Amino acid sequence: MKKKTKKISKPKAAKPVRTPKRTKAPQARKTATRSKTLLFVPEIKVHATPEILVEETAHLFMQTSRNAVLERGRFVVALSGGSTPKGLFQHLSEEPYLSLVPWEKTWFFWVDERHVPLTDTTSNYRMTLENLLSKVPVPKEQVFPATDGSLPVEKAATAYEIKLRKFFGGAGLPQFDLALMGMGDDGHTASLFPRVEQLNESEKWVVGYFVDPEKKERVSLTFPILNQARLTVVLIEGIKKADRLKDVLEGSSEPPRYPIQYLRPAQGRLIFAMDAAAASKLKKK
Ligand code: 6PG
Repeated sequence: MKKKTKKISKPKAAKPVRTPKRTKAPQARKTATRSKTLLFVPEIKVHATPEILVEETAHLFMQTSRNAVLERGRFVVALSGGSTPKGLFQHLSEEPYLSLVPWEKTWFFWVDERHVPLTDTTSNYRMTLENLLSKVPVPKEQVFPATDGSLPVEKAATAYEIKLRKFFGGAGLPQFDLALMGMGDDGHTASLFPRVEQLNESEKWVVGYFVDPEKKERVSLTFPILNQARLTVVLIEGIKKADRLKDVLEGSSEPPRYPIQYLRPAQGRLIFAMDAAAASKLKKK
């Protein structure tokens, strides 16, 4: 975050620009489109290497950001943490993306957060600051950490929900232009873990609770909010995820056991973007 704070003027239509032509990444495959009845039907994109996965996802992030600014004058993104997105964030902080993404018109939220101080080594905010936000010109008032660990976790969730309601305003549910998700080894996504009651939350936008398997408190957007996103990209890399990914994509539909199967965008697209190692156990690629 280099630029001093700037008064945010009424968004002017960004000038139409040509984004660099893309050669098709090897092994990128599209499959079924999303079903209308809100089933779990993701598009699967397999990329040969982690480097190509990062490059293609960075390009998609850039295209989505520019289209959002063209259409609505701003790009509103919700990020996940963990380790997978680090490489993507570093790539986005370098050219050509440093110049191509409209950072001044980008608003950052988090899909979820560990309920710790922002300086804690496990904080998703800290990881994003170190790998991306400290290197791109996002005005600091456009960055909304989910929690700083200072309140009781349920109050922290309520405080984050108030921030979201204030930002999105009006009636209806908030719509992120992009929700960047991950998948845990147990099939969780965001901080929505197997068989917890928070999987069925239908009123709150944000939940805060003690996650027993992790022995940690977490703050997380709920599925009704996640599923409003215009584009949801699940970024999955490495052989360690291959078995679980096969269960999730080609096994039985058991969302309480594999919460990521609750990702069912109401209108948006759901893309599972992975490298060949993560996809290595899949039959349909
Ligand atoms: C978090 C994340 C979480 C993550 C998965 C995958 O706070 O940990 O938001 O949902 O995306 O656990 O984590 P890795 O990328 O570290 O495998």
